[in-house]
Amino acid sequence: MENVKTTVSQTSTRQKKTTVPLNGNGARVQGGVCTSDVTLSAHTGDNSDVFPKVLDLHVPKGAKIADVTYGLGVFWRNVNLEDYKVTFSDLKTGTDCRALPYNAASYDCAVLDPPYMEGLYRKSNGHLAGSGTHSAFRNAYSNGQETTTGPKWHDAVLDMYFRAGAEAYRILKQDGVLIVKCQDEVSANMQRLTHVEIINHYARLGFYVKDLFVVVRRNNPCITRLKKQVHARKNHSYFLVFVKTSNPRSLGKQSVKKGKRLVRKRRS
Ligand SMILES: C[S@@+](CC[C@H](N)C(=O)[O-])C[C@H]1O[C@@H](n2cnc3c(N)ncnc32)[C@H](O)[C@@H]1O
Repeated sequence: MENVKTTVSQTSTRQKKTTVPLNGNGARVQGGVCTSDVTLSAHTGDNSDVFPKVLDLHVPKGAKIADVTYGLGVFWRNVNLEDYKVTFSDLKTGTDCRALPYNAASYDCAVLDPPYMEGLYRKSNGHLAGSGTHSAFRNAYSNGQETTTGPKWHDAVLDMYFRAGAEAYRILKQDGVLIVKCQDEVSANMQRLTHVEIINHYARLGFYVKDLFVVVRRNNPCITRLKKQVHARKNHSYFLVFVKTSNPRSLGKQSVKKGKRLVRKRRS
């Protein structure tokens, strides 16, 4: 007979039985394997290299996914589309990620990658970033339209992520996964850590930030008209992975449980 020990722990509502293997001396044998074949958090490459790794780790095969800012579909270049049930949409094809035509709690996963820099949210089309010879950039990163309402500059970027995040929360099932692509920026000479601003706001919506991937560009970005460098030129961006919980200000299961226990203690 296998040498095992069964422990019973009591949570507030039910008992949990755990069986651990023991060695000949009755000591615990640790499980798992020693390997360096693991998914890493930082990668040099482009989105099509990293996005499949994010999916592999966080989204089970067969999941129902809505990519709500499909663009040119770069994310999906190295993904076998038969592995998932994917719905693609974009403002270019008439669907606004802030008002999706999907039922509440109907998707396992949502993918969000709206224009991430303030230069792509301007009141006049002539002032949009990526004019002239940079039009390929503008076509890849934006729908090329003016932003005539809402906040300006970097706050326009945040407004898009915040509203689209709330809409993603609506269409996701409980424990559904939201994958967000973003990049920090310097706006009006101020460092704006977009990924931190998004994480803080999404916690208030009820998203737990489960993971973060860094994508580092292969080539060196150049700065036009540099006089004196003040901030490091960004050559990295992020994939953030959120999980929908029912707890606004979500800090993850551990912290939430701890919080409840503390409240109970104080009352008794
Ligand atoms: C950074 S690109 C997305 C690139 C895409 N992930 C890919 O793999 O090619 C941003 C996209 O967001 C789209 N977009 C901008 N505003 C939007 C909105 N309100 N709703 C949906 N899509 C929007 C743009 O048309 C553009 O295609």
